[in-house]
Amino acid sequence: MAQMSSHMILLLLGLLLLGLFQQSAAKESPAEKFQRQHMDSGNLISDDNNYCNRMMKARNMTQGRCKPVNTFIHEPKELVDAVCQEPNITCKNGQHNCHESSLPMTLTHCSQTGASKYPNCQYRASYLTKRIIVACEGKVYVPVHFDAYV
Ligand SMILES: *[C@@H]1O[C@H](CO)[C@@H](O)[C@H](O)[C@H]1NC(C)=O
Ligand SMILES: *[C@@H]1O[C@H](CO)[C@@H](O)[C@H](O)[C@H]1NC(C)=O
Repeated sequence: MAQMSSHMILLLLGLLLLGLFQQSAAKESPAEKFQRQHMDSGNLISDDNNYCNRMMKARNMTQGRCKPVNTFIHEPKELVDAVCQEPNITCKNGQHNCHESSLPMTLTHCSQTGASKYPNCQYRASYLTKRIIVACEGKVYVPVHFDAYV
């Protein structure tokens, strides 16, 4: 009986650890989410009409619903992370952890077309060179939200 319950405890502990491990493996941090949704540092192919349709899908923004608008940044990660070192400004949501890039950046803005319906998400692409405003967070202070381009 005593042996039985210690086996039981070990089993439960094992399941608990497995659960914690799976959760930490599956859970995406806000910084990782920003990377997935907004960073595409590779070369911009400016005549690729299918860019948004392909990328919105590849980056999992057409699962469950079509994310209506999203902006991709085609600049090195270091340059985008460095925007967090610019003076803070007020975000659209009223928080004060936003920062504007001192230089314009190469962007692709994707917006869902009026006729497009989930699950067949269709997007129009606009190629822009604009300053970006991002919200930053964390002990390692990095972008977690794309607020606007200006
Ligand atoms: C998108 O989701 C699938 C399955 O949920 C996952 O395997 C894949 O890694 C995700 N892609 C990105 C870019 O997060
Ligand atoms: C910058 O951040 C500080 C501290 O959170 C805040 O008091 C200040 O209002 C912010 N400035 C702007 C322009 O949002």
